[in-house]
Amino acid sequence: MATKEISSDKERVQKVIDALNKARSMELQAIHQYMIQHYTLSDLDYGKLAANIKLISIDEMDHAERFAERIKELKGEPTSALASQVVKGQGVRDIFPYDANLEDNTIATYNQLLAVCRENGDMISADIFQKIIDEEREHYTYFDNSRNHIDTLGDIFLANIAGTSSSTGIERKGFAAAKKNG
Ligand SMILES: [Fe+2]
Ligand SMILES: [Fe+2]
Repeated sequence: MATKEISSDKERVQKVIDALNKARSMELQAIHQYMIQHYTLSDLDYGKLAANIKLISIDEMDHAERFAERIKELKGEPTSALASQVVKGQGVRDIFPYDANLEDNTIATYNQLLAVCRENGDMISADIFQKIIDEEREHYTYFDNSRNHIDTLGDIFLANIAGTSSSTGIERKGFAAAKKNG
């Protein structure tokens, strides 16, 4: 006989969908946050820093899509809400500690959400979380290293970055680019 503590299959799936949507809203926030920052860094002529944050923003879009695909497979509705407000007007010395902290919080939250997927028997969603956590760790390392360079070398580090190219070195992706390539 089923007791109240045992969730129904539907409840278990809903818990996983909620976990995936919480993560998706964090990804949507990160996309917007990093886009604003790469425009700022580009305006300040720190091309290489702008290019790297642009690439990380594209990673976050890929994450948002992966979470949405899994939500659709589970017959849920992917959220379009941002987890919280995007911060504007940051300077070059504000951006990297802020982003390292954002990634650190994301990793901690995703580990909890991964556990929710496991507890509810969804190893496919747990695996998606694990792969994305690994990529968030790479983001964290980049932001933390950049923060350290700016802290320890300051103007010397920034002078070396000034005037560098903001090209990401990757081919443009998306509908229009795919059409051009036939
Ligand atoms: Fe992400
Ligand atoms: Fe990230």
